[in-house]
Amino acid sequence: MKKSIQEIVLGTGATLKDVMATFDQTAQGVVFIVDADGVMQGLLTDGDVRRALLQSASMADAAEAYMSRAFAFGKVGSSRDENARLLDEKIRHLPILDEAGRLVDMIRWADLCQVPVMQPVLEGNEFKYVADCLITNWISSQGPYVDRFQDRFAEYLCAAHALCVSNGTAALHLAMAALGIGPGDEVIIPDLTFVSPASMAIWCGATPVFADVDRTTWTIDPESIKRRITARTRAIVPVHLYGHPCDMDPILDLAREHKLFVIEDCAEALGAEYKGRKVGTIGDVGTFSFFANKVITTGEGGMVTTNSPELLEKMTLLRDHGMTRDRRYWHERAGFNYRLTNLQAAIGLAQMEHIDQILSFREEIVARYNRQLGPIDGIILPPAEPWAKNIFWLYSIVVDEQVAGIDRDALAARLAEYGIDTRPFFYPLHVQPPFVGEAAGEFPVAGWLAANGLSLPTSNNLTVEEIDKVCSAIASAVRHSSFAKGCDS
Ligand SMILES: Cc1ncc(COP(=O)(O)O)c(C=O)c1O
Repeated sequence: MKKSIQEIVLGTGATLKDVMATFDQTAQGVVFIVDADGVMQGLLTDGDVRRALLQSASMADAAEAYMSRAFAFGKVGSSRDENARLLDEKIRHLPILDEAGRLVDMIRWADLCQVPVMQPVLEGNEFKYVADCLITNWISSQGPYVDRFQDRFAEYLCAAHALCVSNGTAALHLAMAALGIGPGDEVIIPDLTFVSPASMAIWCGATPVFADVDRTTWTIDPESIKRRITARTRAIVPVHLYGHPCDMDPILDLAREHKLFVIEDCAEALGAEYKGRKVGTIGDVGTFSFFANKVITTGEGGMVTTNSPELLEKMTLLRDHGMTRDRRYWHERAGFNYRLTNLQAAIGLAQMEHIDQILSFREEIVARYNRQLGPIDGIILPPAEPWAKNIFWLYSIVVDEQVAGIDRDALAARLAEYGIDTRPFFYPLHVQPPFVGEAAGEFPVAGWLAANGLSLPTSNNLTVEEIDKVCSAIASAVRHSSFAKGCDS
């Protein structure tokens, strides 16, 4: 028998306490009771145990007294599809029995109806354009789709220039290298973000210095930046986290005052706006990622944007081995190969053709989530400042355990039971091995968010049924936890 089944099997002598301990260990919310011959006698769900406790059962009582003896089961001889049809939101674990009634297998509803956090949707011209690359033999980084993708991207953002690169991390490296960030320099980065800007600062020979994030926007806190500026600071990297723009005005003021570069990390925020301006056009450089979980994707891929022709020139040179465009194999500088292929750019162009629909569809997702999750006590909704257009890369919530009665990790485990994929927030950077000791300081807000933040499914093809499923699973987890707390006290 599979380990996942063994974990939820108890013998006929089990008590309610054993059942509760099994729920606790497995987070499956069900146990199967079998006799000494392996014949299944019944099952108990967490609902059965709650009802038993309401009827004043004691934890030492035999589980058998409260189990369901008439339970749905599949048969060994039936096809998987036939058996799977017996599953639904109520019957989430289907035991499969042989002719003698012995438990031999199990099918879980969760395994059949997965809701991923994010998945690519390639339903426009992607196939046609990629086929065109193959037919015309332009599969490398030269070819018409590269220019078309860059032009379309720049036009959408109202940026003077866009240059595509192999991924979002390369975009950050290129930006820092082109700005001349190097040994002895400090780069201010939010403590709560994906690791790339901090790693790239290190690979430039600079020191990442972390600033705390703001409790309302979850993005870098300008007050914290101010405290971290020293004579060695060269740049600030505001990260528009989870799709919400940073409060850019005070950041730009600090940058002007101290003569610092501003590199906007827009990996999670394509289309987001700060006071009517698209992010990626506000600082010196904007960087984007097109990894498969991003708002648009090219599989792997990225872009840098800038309004400065000099910076574009430097980034183009560095991206292409430091080689001058008019003299082949003549390298002005030690550069990288950070180019995107024509094949990837073809996908990117097709994705950009739908960017407006993608973003307005996401607004509908967010409105539906907000409507259903807003009234649940202890669930803090994602930020939406009046001056901001948040594009909600991942619809993310913060779980206030004191009020909700359940912590973030337990909630994620409950959602996984329903086949709902989630992501915890990033760990704070200052505690991670490459940066420990690099930057001391206190980061209470980053710590709070890292411990309690959870991203929910936000794919561009998420259905209303899936959103409703996520919301009702959260509501039920919070309700049951408050109930269980009430029983304890
Ligand atoms: C904020 C942020 N910056 C940078 C990156 C790096 O992008 P890539 O994975 O394309 O290298 C990511 C990617 O997930 C990100 O979320």
